Amino acid sequence: MYDFRADPASSKPEIYRQLCDAALALTEGERDGIANMANVAALLWEYLPDLNWAGFYRAMGDELVLGPFAGRPACIRIPFGQGVCGAAAASGQTQLVADVNAFPGHIACDAASRSELVVPVMKNGEVLAVIDLDSPTPARFDAEDAAGIERLAGALASRL
Ligand code: SME
Repeated sequence: MYDFRADPASSKPEIYRQLCDAALALTEGERDGIANMANVAALLWEYLPDLNWAGFYRAMGDELVLGPFAGRPACIRIPFGQGVCGAAAASGQTQLVADVNAFPGHIACDAASRSELVVPVMKNGEVLAVIDLDSPTPARFDAEDAAGIERLAGALASRL
């Protein structure tokens, strides 16, 4: 049995350190990228409060394809450059969106989403996947969340 949980008294950077350690422990020695994404999506869902979606889109050619996630069913294919996920994939840059309704081209998979954080997972200069977090709370994510998920993305690059 796995029982990874954040200590609620921890600071945000500490929660992300624990999350990263847990993700590395869960994916240690496993070569199947889908299995690793599935466990990390479950971990994100369990560790981070106030989310309505947490998971992966995988880069396949010039589009993103839905990967393992927790939350409501979501759109399956997103062309590079479209929506928040497509912007992260096309630019290779984290997208921190305080108000999804103000983001041009935002793709609403769940009408409850109000803010979003998307971080690309890069390997050898190419986007392998993106990690997508959605929240029903406006401005749920800040620079510490972005840094924490970027740390996770860096740790996972060789395991997807
Ligand atoms: N909102 C995303 C689409 C994916 S869902 O949030 C799960 C976007 O604009 O790319």
